[in-house]
Amino acid sequence: MTERRSSQWYAGTDRNAYIHRAWMRRGLPENAFDGRPHIAIANSASDLTPCNSHLNEVAEAVKAGIYAAGGIPLNLPVVSLGETQVRPTAMLWRNMAAMATEEMLRANPIDGVVLLGGCDKTIPSLLMAAASVDLPALVIPGGPMLTGTFQGQALGCGTDVWRLSEEVRGGTLSQEQFLKSESSMIRSRGHCNTMGTASTMALVAEALGTIAPGLAGTPAPDSRLLEASYDSGHLIVELIAEGRRPSTFLTRGSFHNAIVALAAIGGSTNAVVHLLAIAGRLGIDLTIDDFDRIGSGVPLLVNLQPAGRFLMDDFHRAGGLLSVLREVRDLLDPTALTVTGRPLVDHLDDARIWDPEVITVRSSPLQADAGIAVLYGNLAPGGAIVKPAAASAHLLSHRGRAVVFDTIEDMHARIDDPDLEVDADSVLVLRGCGPRGYPGMPEVANMPLPKKLLEQGVRDMVRICDGRMSGTAYGTVILHVTPEAAAGGPLGIVETGDWIVLDVPGRTLSIDVPQDELDARLPNAATVAGFAAPTRGWERLYVDHVMQADTGADLDFLRGSSGDRVSRESH
Ligand code: FES
Repeated sequence: MTERRSSQWYAGTDRNAYIHRAWMRRGLPENAFDGRPHIAIANSASDLTPCNSHLNEVAEAVKAGIYAAGGIPLNLPVVSLGETQVRPTAMLWRNMAAMATEEMLRANPIDGVVLLGGCDKTIPSLLMAAASVDLPALVIPGGPMLTGTFQGQALGCGTDVWRLSEEVRGGTLSQEQFLKSESSMIRSRGHCNTMGTASTMALVAEALGTIAPGLAGTPAPDSRLLEASYDSGHLIVELIAEGRRPSTFLTRGSFHNAIVALAAIGGSTNAVVHLLAIAGRLGIDLTIDDFDRIGSGVPLLVNLQPAGRFLMDDFHRAGGLLSVLREVRDLLDPTALTVTGRPLVDHLDDARIWDPEVITVRSSPLQADAGIAVLYGNLAPGGAIVKPAAASAHLLSHRGRAVVFDTIEDMHARIDDPDLEVDADSVLVLRGCGPRGYPGMPEVANMPLPKKLLEQGVRDMVRICDGRMSGTAYGTVILHVTPEAAAGGPLGIVETGDWIVLDVPGRTLSIDVPQDELDARLPNAATVAGFAAPTRGWERLYVDHVMQADTGADLDFLRGSSGDRVSRESH
């Protein structure tokens, strides 16, 4: 039998082994140190991450499964990010959470890890960490919440917050009614129930192969989540016995499958930066162009908010991810493996669509081409993305004059000014919201429309930003513009009144200003109002090392893997 990693701490009769064992003898069984696998449960449960607050119960089911399979489960609380709670934006802390988790997995005497996540950044940060440590690992997603209703209507949390608040600003909903909806928005434990970032990342992580097939999308209150968590406890013991590490089963083909899934479900644009960052940890050369190339031609089969009508509860009832993937089986990489040791496509045979209104068959897709479109041009030399499935078809080819906001504060201060020179054809430009500029690349690209236009019935406009957009948002929003303004990108030299030309079918985004004038403006590109470089702490480290959106906005020194080795003893 090969020596367990944890035995490097526990085996033997010397003083150090004595210390490692003695301090752990607090209720562990007598045979805990006989060479059986020690397995961390990287647990992002936190009262301040409300979408993950039920994960301690999930952890108990995992523990039971690990014990039953002959392993030793060990709860490891990790940095947890509540999307609605942490300021200035959870994305600023994703890399910190990934780095902290990576180091704690490496530093501790464990042989494998079960990753418990849910809210937007938690699964990405856990997977980035696991990829860099490369211990046997699998994910259990905490699952979406049940559907709440208000005045007889289902509420999509996130998406309907944007919609209702716009209705208040447009004068079609009273402030009192808006506030009344607050207590209906979150019906149960679990993460957002739209096809937002949390739902997307759980489903994409399953398509990637890191979750037991069929588990992602199980609602958080559903008893089958605990049953599957128990089974995953068994499965992680098998992964360790087989030496099934991320580097042994995550390949370019795995990411291909994740991108196909992302398009077919109409998933969040945030998956682009997260998948790029995870691939970077594995040394897989994934680019934003892969999202357009692989995703184009993939049909949209899932009718969920924000692009469609239903919610995650309906999605699970209708057959879930495997029934979607079965429809696009021919587009998947048949060699890409999963945590089960078998290819993803091997798990599709029994999947069925039970409600074709929620999940459509391949022959009648909601859209023929649902991929993320990647745009280039003199406004985005490093690329920008747009999700056509969530955009207005009539705006995908558009020419309009820019209305520029230097910061999010500037936008909030002026967007509803009756004297703002803006009409329905204008292009709203918001800069200073990239990884460095904010810092942290917040979800602000889906900026609110000017009140006076809302009152005229305008419901969408072209918006351009170097930040991200909430996965629960919708609209003709061009985001992740690279390089960002604060890194000297041309977004920093756009002036109000410039003509902007968007051509999504032609994949271009440009500014129609003579080149010599652009050249004259360029030295001032990085001068973005409100940006002050942080002087200490994580923000300082982040701003000094964060890369641009086109590579996943990871820190430059966190790319790649350091493996699980620790060279020195602690005393
Ligand atoms: Fe946690 Fe939406 S706020 S998933």
